[in-house]
Amino acid sequence: MAELQTVDRRSFLKISGLATGVVLSGGAVVAAVIGPRPLGVAAARQGEKVQFAFPEYPDVIIANLNDLVAGEPVFFAYPQAGQKNMLVKLGKSAEEGIGPESDVVAFSTACSHMGAPLDNVYNHEYGILGPCPLHYSTFDLSKSGMNVMGKASDHLPQVALQVDDSGDIRAVGMFGLVYGYPANLFARAKEG
Ligand code: FES
Repeated sequence: MAELQTVDRRSFLKISGLATGVVLSGGAVVAAVIGPRPLGVAAARQGEKVQFAFPEYPDVIIANLNDLVAGEPVFFAYPQAGQKNMLVKLGKSAEEGIGPESDVVAFSTACSHMGAPLDNVYNHEYGILGPCPLHYSTFDLSKSGMNVMGKASDHLPQVALQVDDSGDIRAVGMFGLVYGYPANLFARAKEG
């Protein structure tokens, strides 16, 4: 049975930014996310965890929980070839983290400022990705990829993960827009 990807309601509203929320008479919240940072669709009752669904995205096994070593990243492409991401066990609880310690997360390695590669700048002591080799942006991987330094103004896009009883970790969606794409599932924008 797969673990559902959940965050609390406040975190969802903070992450989404451009979400449209509708409060129904029974207290349920249904949010369809729009705009340049597409997230998916979420539903919950007030005070409960929000559950995300990404119906357009591929469902891909990327690693097994039992093979992960804290601080040793695993790189994979998602949702398209050429969109590189890093899966890592942080060793501390993270927003949208999965696994028994909620510490396994995955993020795009294309800097959200101008797309520079962040493949070699993971700092396990602080759980951050950065500084970016171009303009020093640094992202907190335990806080949804929040920028904590440098020129980027957006979070680093985060891969939505699920884990099943066998420990298989699956990528099932994406929070945020991968740099250089008009939408994560579209062809890369032409550089002009
Ligand atoms: S490309 Fe990373 S901070 Fe500018």
